[in-house]
Amino acid sequence: MDIITALVDHHQELRQLYRESEEDPARFTEFVRHLIVHHTMEEKYFYDLLQEINAARHDALEAVNEHHIIELIIKDAEGFPREHDNFPIKVEGLGEYTTHHLDEEEADIFPLARTLFAPDDLVDLGKFFLEAKQKLLTIELPEVPQAIHGRAAASVAVPPGSHGLGIGSLK
Ligand SMILES: [Fe+2]
Ligand SMILES: [Fe+2]
Ligand SMILES: [Fe+2]
Repeated sequence: MDIITALVDHHQELRQLYRESEEDPARFTEFVRHLIVHHTMEEKYFYDLLQEINAARHDALEAVNEHHIIELIIKDAEGFPREHDNFPIKVEGLGEYTTHHLDEEEADIFPLARTLFAPDDLVDLGKFFLEAKQKLLTIELPEVPQAIHGRAAASVAVPPGSHGLGIGSLK
């Protein structure tokens, strides 16, 4: 399967996960997981190369910039309480922007790319994309044991500014 077909297939999965997240906020995590994997692999195996072609450079940069905007929307939605009545509005905002991006890729960027890449390269890139997608989506990260959470919560407060302030600590 060439990379453009593989990307469009994954777009269909993303659209489905968005619809499911609208019905059930518990599906939101899965939607976001797929979206992040999609962006990472689409950049590595498609846009990094497309940027090197003058005729497509502007479109490629615009698409990668849209990935960054989508990731900002994800950060915002992730920091919003799932049980809040307005959480579905956050999901809708993310879904609508993402849908715009997917539609634009399919209507404009992918047809252009088909005229610029060698067909054999598209097939090889498709293999890399599918292998990476499969690996990244089946990764299982170890959970932090409750005992460590407990000790962390019970520890003496560190002065502000003495440690990095990750997004997670703002929730
Ligand atoms: Fe994209
Ligand atoms: Fe756009
Ligand atoms: Fe895409």
